[in-house]
Parts: sequence; structure tokens; C-alpha cells
Amino acid sequence: MSAPGPAKIPQHVAIIMDGNGRWAKQRGLPRLEGHRRGVETVRTVVDTARELGIRYLTLYAFSAENWKRPGDEVSGLMGLLDFFLKRELNNLIKEKVRLRTIGRIDALPANVQRELARVKEATKHFTEWNLVLALNYGAQTEAADAARAYAEAVQAGREDPAEATWEKFSRYFSTGDLPEPDLLIRTSGELRLSNFLMLQLAYAELIFTPTLWPDFGRTDLVAAVEEYGRRERRYGATTEQIKAGAS
Ligand code: IPE
Ligand code: IPE
Ligand code: MG
Repeated sequence: MSAPGPAKIPQHVAIIMDGNGRWAKQRGLPRLEGHRRGVETVRTVVDTARELGIRYLTLYAFSAENWKRPGDEVSGLMGLLDFFLKRELNNLIKEKVRLRTIGRIDALPANVQRELARVKEATKHFTEWNLVLALNYGAQTEAADAARAYAEAVQAGREDPAEATWEKFSRYFSTGDLPEPDLLIRTSGELRLSNFLMLQLAYAELIFTPTLWPDFGRTDLVAAVEEYGRRERRYGATTEQIKAGAS
């Protein structure tokens, strides 16, 4: 494997895992079979991310809008999540990966909430590696929730609105204690964010690949990280300024 140099490894990679349905359809299989295969990709990607030195991996697993899907697909996805959590508990402990979630998990089925609590509790002392699952997540809902929590803090005298900055306000987001993603990958060729981490991605590098999520593998993640390494992140400054700063 030709891994990029250490300085070019993104600290936080966020992935919109898309294309399970089309993968299944192409093979005349039920959509759930695509989701099943997608779970295997998650395992590969978690392993590869760790090998590459990516400390935070956020996976969009179920959006706030995905409840619109047929009931049997939604319950199938919840069943797979339960299966994944049970199966991965020991691996996550062995590999020292902390499981976290973003999104309104209180609306998930009780058994899934129980498993999530169990895995989070068992891994909460790990600091180096973080797997963040976005579940029932929507960036707009998250912003509204953050505004409400911030307003309550203002009413309680804990915040002064005259001193509001993104640094302070972003603490009220579900990602408040996570670094912002450096790299966003979306599989399956769709060119949109679908309500994922919209403010946190302000300066993320974006990579869209036509590969469907069940086909996404180790070499695809390595290729994306290499592509990231070739990009110049300017944050509004000029190339000359970036070069001067780096020298
Ligand atoms: C992504 O695959 C998985 C979830 C959204 C849960 P899709 O199910 O969206 O696959 P396509 O987009 O229909 O191919
Ligand atoms: C985004 O994919 C959500 C997840 C990957 C969990 P969708 O397949 O739901 O997005 P749209 O509907 O095509 O925008
Ligand atoms: Mg999709």
C-alpha cells in the first residue's frame, strides 16, 4: 500500500455511504441485501482508516429523512444496526475505538438505543480512535436544536449573545467536541450533501466517487486520502501565503 506522508493524513474523514439500493438492484437482489453488503464495507473502512492514521471517522448511516422509506426497509436497516453493534463490540474494544453518535438517537427503536448505550459505555475511555455514527441525523434539525440550547444558555446567563462566535455556538452542535471534518467522501455519484454536517464541512475537501458503497474498499479509501494529500487548503488565503507559512 502506498500510504501518503503523515502530514497529509486527514484527522477527520466523514463519509456519505450511498448506493446500497442501486448495488442490489443491479444484481436483481432486494435493497436490504445491498445494505447488508454495506455493513461489510463499514468494517473494511473502519480498519483501513485506523491503519492510515485517521483519528475520527464519521459515517452517515441513517438520515432524518430516511424514515420516509418503506417500513420494511427502515426496520431492516434498524435490524442491521443492531447486528452491527453486537458484532463489532469486541472488535472496537480490541482496536481501542470509541463509538460516538450524532443525531436524535432517542427516536431509534429501544433495542438499538440499548446496544448503542452499551457499546458507547464500553468504549468511552478510548481517546485515539473515534467512530462517529450519524443516526437519525439532519444538519437543519441539528442547527435548530443548537439554537434552542444556546437560547436557553443565554436566558440562564451562561452566554452573552453579543459575544457569539462560530467557535462558541458550534459547541451546542452534536459535533461540539469533535474536530471539523477535513475530508468528505460521497459514494454512488450523487453530487449533494443530503443534509449532512453542512456548517462543519465549511472548509472540508470534497470527494465524490461513482463507486457504490458495497463496492467501496480499502484501495478506494487510500486513493481518496492520496487525492486529499494533493489538494491545497487555502482557507481564504493565497497560495503564496500558504507556502510562506509552511516554510
Ligand atoms: C445508502 O444507500 C444507505 C442509506 C441511505 C441508509 P441507499 O439505500 O441510499 O442506496 P441508493 O441511493 O438507493 O442506491
Ligand atoms: C443520504 O443518502 C443518507 C445516508 C447515506 C444515510 P440518501 O440516499 O438518503 O440521500 P438522497 O435522498 O439521495 O439525497
Ligand atoms: Mg441513496
